[in-house]
Amino acid sequence: MGITQWVLRDAPDGDTTAQNMPDQTMSARMVSVNPEDSAGEDASKKPTPVVEVLKQSVPKRTQVAAVQQSVSDVISLDALRVRVAECTACELAASRTQTVFGEGPDQADWLFIGEAPGQQEDRQGKPFVGRAGGLLTQMIRALDKTREQVFILNTLKCRPPGNRDPLPAELKACEPFLLKQIQLIQPKVIVALGKTSAQALLNSDQALGKLRGQVYQYGPDSIPLIVSYHPAYLLRQPTDKGKVWADLLLAHRQLPV
Ligand code: URA
Repeated sequence: MGITQWVLRDAPDGDTTAQNMPDQTMSARMVSVNPEDSAGEDASKKPTPVVEVLKQSVPKRTQVAAVQQSVSDVISLDALRVRVAECTACELAASRTQTVFGEGPDQADWLFIGEAPGQQEDRQGKPFVGRAGGLLTQMIRALDKTREQVFILNTLKCRPPGNRDPLPAELKACEPFLLKQIQLIQPKVIVALGKTSAQALLNSDQALGKLRGQVYQYGPDSIPLIVSYHPAYLLRQPTDKGKVWADLLLAHRQLPV
């Protein structure tokens, strides 16, 4: 894959020079891809036609209300999974193979939130099982964790056709599911992977580069939230893995000792 293994062990707090980390100065000089394009699963993503974005940028109130209503009485992740699988609130329901709820232990300390399922995820019904998922697994391993110990989910539960960017209306319609997931999992730290996830969670339109490097307090429980690059971006721009490592260490430091 061309990504060298990352190692957390013995990395002191704040030390971003983990084993085999790239030279930061070099990486800054070599970057040619706009970090704000980081959200996508792959470089072949087609931009959404402007007309389509405008048409769908206003969510239908009744649909959002229906999703809100469907989660209001839910008190377990299993029950929520069923509600997600039944959802037809936006047009993605028509083209999906299945919903991708996310996976992990009910009470995981770490919560990683990506953008939306891609082709492999849509087929298998699991998050991050494609190439980007392989890299996310490495990132988790570098934290001395396994995939089974963390929760991984997406802002959208259905695949946008052709892996196009999620539309505002789709994000809005799916939001009650995301909020309920976070409320039920109660993680100790959240890592938002990529622009779509970060902007949706922080209700911001700032560029990813501006959102990185800070600790946000998310929701009524003030869960620490860190923003980082999407693994798909990192596959295209491996010289930025040092920045992701710094983000992961920042997230790690938010865990109670
Ligand atoms: N990209 C994402 O954002 N999520 C996935 O599940 C897979 C790829």
